Amino acid sequence: MRRTIFAGVGHYLPERVVTNQELEKLMDTSDEWIRERTGIVERRWVKEGDTVSGLALKASEMALERAKMTSADIDLIIFACMESDSEFPGGGCWLQEKLQIPGIPALDIRNQCSGFIYGLSVADQFIKTGHYNNILLVGAEIQSTSLDLTTGGRDMAVLFGDGAGAAVLTASENGERGVLTTHLHADGVYTKKLWAEWPSVTHHPRITPEMLETDRIYPKMEGRYVFKHAVTRFPEVIHEALEKTGYSIKDVDLVVPHQANLRITEAVAQRLGIGMDKMYSNIEKYGNTTAATIPICLSEAWKEGRIKEGSLVAIAAFGSGFTWASALIRW
Ligand SMILES: CC(C)(COP(=O)(O)OP(=O)(O)OC[C@H]1O[C@@H](n2cnc3c(N)ncnc32)[C@H](O)[C@@H]1OP(=O)(O)O)[C@@H](O)C(=O)NCCC(=O)NCCS
Repeated sequence: MRRTIFAGVGHYLPERVVTNQELEKLMDTSDEWIRERTGIVERRWVKEGDTVSGLALKASEMALERAKMTSADIDLIIFACMESDSEFPGGGCWLQEKLQIPGIPALDIRNQCSGFIYGLSVADQFIKTGHYNNILLVGAEIQSTSLDLTTGGRDMAVLFGDGAGAAVLTASENGERGVLTTHLHADGVYTKKLWAEWPSVTHHPRITPEMLETDRIYPKMEGRYVFKHAVTRFPEVIHEALEKTGYSIKDVDLVVPHQANLRITEAVAQRLGIGMDKMYSNIEKYGNTTAATIPICLSEAWKEGRIKEGSLVAIAAFGSGFTWASALIRW
């Protein structure tokens, strides 16, 4: 049976480390509050001139090297990101130009924190049907430039960071290994619970000097509301993947959840009935990097030896939309 396997995973984080103490100088917050409520100690921010596709390129190069492939082997790019280097085109074309692989398709996925798993599901369908053989799947984000760095935006500003992760996905005829199942969900009733309103096509022109004077150009969130939904949806969508494949949570070697808040990860572990030793977490170093989070985790977990060939890995995400998703992978 033809399945999708991870041939290589890579990641890249900007060099600039931004500690909680640094944020204390910008807004009314404290290291203690951020650690206690979120588990985050520091995050990475880009420097002036950095691009989403530039971060993505570095993560892709690591993934390709680990897969023992070159960009010439890739026959489809799938790029998950909220925002690109420009209003349009999307990140896939910007990355394609940097990888110098003209002509192949470049597909953008815009599903926020669930973007990487949405992209994985799309890639899996293409590989299983034999339409494509080697797919480069990337999640990359620059968040820091969109945040309100005053006290008014502190609930969001302390959570998010910049980074990129990538996976080279390839076909395997060995039916044992690979992506066993993927599950995607969304509920647009909740669009305004976590969103950035402006600039928007509902106005002509899309952005005006007056808009820049308001806080409606910054991302907004009802934090507690998002938290409650997340701790329900994560276990639910992981169970969905287990039921589909006939596995139990005890069979899973590592759960890699989207890194939104350490308290969410702990609550999910509790609801799943597993210890934190089975939950991957790196939120203390990077915060929430949206679509980049899961591939960064996979790349680090692989490097640390916590994911090996044959490991059963569950990945799950929840985010703006709301969107949520899971996949079960025999690595
Ligand atoms: C944002 C989040 C950390 C806030 O934690 P919380 O325990 O729910 O805190 P609350 O929102 O109830 O706020 C408690 C107080 O802290 C304040 N506060 C918010 N952010 C703060 C910050 N960065 N520093 C200090 N105080 C802060 C609030 O203003 C509030 O003050 P008040 O009691 O005087 O009104 C939490 O709700 C969360 O993580 N939600 C989910 C976020 C998420 O996952 N988003 C992405 C999904 S992919």
